[in-house]
Amino acid sequence: VGHSTNILWHKCSVEKSDRQELLKQKGCVIWITGLSGSGKSTLACALSHGLHARGKLTYILDGDNVRHGLNSDLSFKAEDRAENIRRIGEVAKLFADAGVICIASLISPYRKDRDACRARLPEGDFVEVFMDVPLQICEARDPKGLYKLARAGKIKGFTGVDDPYEPPLNAEIVLRQREEKYDSPTHLAEIVISYLEKKA
Ligand code: PPS
Repeated sequence: VGHSTNILWHKCSVEKSDRQELLKQKGCVIWITGLSGSGKSTLACALSHGLHARGKLTYILDGDNVRHGLNSDLSFKAEDRAENIRRIGEVAKLFADAGVICIASLISPYRKDRDACRARLPEGDFVEVFMDVPLQICEARDPKGLYKLARAGKIKGFTGVDDPYEPPLNAEIVLRQREEKYDSPTHLAEIVISYLEKKA
């Protein structure tokens, strides 16, 4: 980063606070991290649903989906994952600045990359949600059959199998799941929504 020189920040008189007032909400980033199959996208969707029903404007940035467009040039090697996280972090920051509750849902396996996104946002605007689901459970679910392929050596560098995942140390919200039976996505979404309501 940092190839642009001689550029100045252009400020406009319609500011974040004006947009937030118009929307009657606070823009922020809810960053959902966890292994593949830990339920990130399902939570993102339930959360969007729950907030929408309360009249809140949300937008989901899902790793899988963004990799179809903006990030279609990126692979799963470490530096590309870092760039995936950086770009999604920057886009999420723009959404939050627009006054939107932006829900970013991607594995984001590296702590320093997630922390860098946090550092780019105003204090309190980055809410990290850790889907704390053990590998064995994610692997047993294997919704896309990718763990099976990874174990068979047909996918190399699969997170949790032969690629690292660094759990957050200070996530605002940890959603633990230790057994096969799982909490409904609506219930998990409610936990996040009550956190946001208390914070507001
Ligand atoms: S990352 O690490 O944040 O850049 O990953 P993300 O953008 O969230 O993409 C993860 C989804 O891509 C599929 N996939 C892989 N995941 C992990 N490792 C490897 N090598 C890999 N190759 C493909 C997988 O379906 C992930 O989907 P989710 O939604 O997490 O299950």
